[in-house]
Amino acid sequence: MKDASPQTTYLSDYTPFGWQVADVHLTVKLAPKATRVVSRIHFQPNPNAPAQDFFLHGEELKLIRAAIDGTEVNPELTPQGLRCDVPSGPFLWETEVEIAPAENTALEGLYMSNGMYCTQCEAEGFRKITYYPDRPDVMATFTVRIEGDTPVKLSNGNPTDSGEGWAEWHDPWPKPAYLFALVAGDLVNHPGAFTTMSGKEVELNIWVRPGDEGKCAFGMEALKASMTWDEEVYGREYDLDIFNIVAVDDFNMGAMENKGLNIFNSSCVLASPETSTDANFERIEAIIAHEYFHNWTGNRITCRDWFQLCLKEGLTVYRDSQFTSDMRSAEVKRISDVIDLRARQFPEDQGPLSHPVRPESFQEINNFYTATVYEKGAEVIGMLKRLVGDEAYGKALDLYFERHDGDAATIEDWLRVFEDSTGRDLSQFKRWYSQSGTPHLSISEDYADGTFTLTFKQETPPTPGQSDKAPQVLPIAVGLLNPNGDEVVPTTVLEMTDAEQSFSFEGLSAKPVASILRGFSAPVVLDRETLAEEKRFLLAHDTDAFNRWEASRDLARGCLFDMVTEGAGPDMAWIDALEQVIRDGDLDPAFRALMLALPTQSELAQMLHAKGVTPDPDAIHAAAETLRNAMAERWSSLLPELMAATRVTEGYSPDAKQSGKRALGNAVLSLQTRLDGGKAAQAQFDAADNMTMQLSALSCLISAGAEDAALAAFERQWKDDRLVMDKWFALQVAATKPESAAPRAEALTKRPDFDWKNPNRFRAVMGSLAMNHAGFHAKDGSGYRLLAEWLIKLDGKNPQTAARMCSVFQTWTRYDAGRQALMKAELERIAAKPDLSRDVSEMVGRLLS
Ligand code: ARG
Ligand code: ZN
Repeated sequence: MKDASPQTTYLSDYTPFGWQVADVHLTVKLAPKATRVVSRIHFQPNPNAPAQDFFLHGEELKLIRAAIDGTEVNPELTPQGLRCDVPSGPFLWETEVEIAPAENTALEGLYMSNGMYCTQCEAEGFRKITYYPDRPDVMATFTVRIEGDTPVKLSNGNPTDSGEGWAEWHDPWPKPAYLFALVAGDLVNHPGAFTTMSGKEVELNIWVRPGDEGKCAFGMEALKASMTWDEEVYGREYDLDIFNIVAVDDFNMGAMENKGLNIFNSSCVLASPETSTDANFERIEAIIAHEYFHNWTGNRITCRDWFQLCLKEGLTVYRDSQFTSDMRSAEVKRISDVIDLRARQFPEDQGPLSHPVRPESFQEINNFYTATVYEKGAEVIGMLKRLVGDEAYGKALDLYFERHDGDAATIEDWLRVFEDSTGRDLSQFKRWYSQSGTPHLSISEDYADGTFTLTFKQETPPTPGQSDKAPQVLPIAVGLLNPNGDEVVPTTVLEMTDAEQSFSFEGLSAKPVASILRGFSAPVVLDRETLAEEKRFLLAHDTDAFNRWEASRDLARGCLFDMVTEGAGPDMAWIDALEQVIRDGDLDPAFRALMLALPTQSELAQMLHAKGVTPDPDAIHAAAETLRNAMAERWSSLLPELMAATRVTEGYSPDAKQSGKRALGNAVLSLQTRLDGGKAAQAQFDAADNMTMQLSALSCLISAGAEDAALAAFERQWKDDRLVMDKWFALQVAATKPESAAPRAEALTKRPDFDWKNPNRFRAVMGSLAMNHAGFHAKDGSGYRLLAEWLIKLDGKNPQTAARMCSVFQTWTRYDAGRQALMKAELERIAAKPDLSRDVSEMVGRLLS
């Protein structure tokens, strides 16, 4: 049954649940269309809660029977759950419900994927499995008995007993229901083992469908590396006898940290050199680490309510980025994270969907698993660490684990730990959690008599529901360089707390060049009028890798801005300055590859909009093409030389060293393709023995319009591999010229293998359409129309994935009146769909407000 009028939940309404749960016993009798779930739960009154009705969440459940202390009862049923009169003391609650996993296309609760049973309970999916207080502050130990004829049956915790057709698991760690998991199917395991720092042996497994065994080795190594890293860096040890990971083909998100039984979208765990790119390997390593790290930041210490989501997600993203920095290059990781933040979080924070890192209300919590909660949430932790210092951060984290182990905690708890352990007052810092929007930071400089003064002004534009913004604490990392390129003041963190504030450096012999916001020390938009000459100087001399990259990026942005708004030509001075960096064989190839990429077209649209110019996607696309061509022509003799220098001769490894070389080689190949029409790309495609080389060659061929033979060959080779075919679907929409994007996406949706109920396949086509900036924004509205049609269709089956994808419209008010009208009409068409889900209805409502 659908919700008639969606309810809004408010942070300020938090009330503890009236009962505590001593333990939960579940028996799950599996059958695709009629699974029976029998629950036995011991409740006792919660002395810390106000009096309230006994209400258990439950959705789409068929109640077979309910009993209290063995006596049958008749609860009052609502679409959201049940209400019942209960004894005033402790009691045993029992229910039996029936559910149909085979008919669950929303992929939330218990569902089936390729014949295998699996669950996704975060955030509020457990209520689709049985009646329960489905809220993270209710924690209990679980015993689970699974009955069914599948060979493998898994749940949380440790296996306790099994027999013909049944298996039993017990999880000794009290947990909220969102961490419950169950998997059953015809699965095979890739085994492993780990000895923890205190000498405990842990059995490890990655469970996959038969046929995928060969794609688990990398994930297993990543898991062990994560376990070691969390011991060494955070002192955190694993706490069960077994740790299982399962790969599932149909999954709404990336992966899920269920206690002792992590469930992964197969795209985020399965890897082999032939089928996965270097980027896939790196992402898999990071996600395995992320989910594993949740065992402490998320599971042992969980969230009091869903408004505190950033407590576990911001911290865990921060931890996984530290891990990747340690495993690979910290500089490259930082630049990549900032690219991602600007591409995903900035548009969110600067448009109608803007919300604080800790939101204050929601209709559907699944709509708040956002870049703001995750990535800005991680930035906030990075700032905190920068402000208190590494050592104090380590001490605070120790105190956090000590004080809150076993708790369902809040952001207040988290900040209090830092206040207590450092003696700092963090009340102003807390605004990072409550104030939405991206602060703009502007700078003026002054030099007189050996004193250099930087004056900063911060201002955050209004966001939905927040018109007035107070100044935030900004850690601004600054270094000063002498005109000869020597660093005279090494990186210093200035702590800005006022709306306007000056900082002086004395005793300088000449006016220095300032390198500001090193390492992107705060997630702000820097409004700085710097001379191009000074940027080229920083590009050549800055000791901070991030700011070296940023200087070049700034020059590229400025150049594209002038090309679009004034019809200027490519900035040859920038191209020549960049050449010096690209040629420098002492620099990490991965860093040089990042230097070669242009700002994305969407980023340019955002910049134009911020400067009061209405972005024209076609003009932006044309300018980017002209600039890329100019780079290719200017470097025509350099490119083959660079390609040769990046050749990898040893056997394939996805490590940072090799993948950096390939990244640079492939960035060069895309320029080379502009000169030779795809000759080198075709040769690389034909010779490729790994997916990185094959896919980047294919990408070049598509952008050159020379892809027909290669696309067909690729399909012949990979038609039986779903994950590889997702890439094939995605690339031809993402890399094609704008006018072909929507027509190609549409043609692909007509193929029998466009299995649109599979979120990966849906996103491969529709997500890629949105990534093709000028293609999605085709003037005739064909991109908008196609996407809206498919979102309407998907909403009927999978509201969560449909709702997430609505965010591609979040920048709609940036564009010209014609495009705005077209997008608005599509959003209104979605809003008018009868029986629209709560998920999509909330998203469209916010987009249109
Ligand atoms: N906790 C998971 C992670 O970030 C995300 C699961 C979110 N799932 C959802 N349906 N909202 O690791
Ligand atoms: Zn997470």
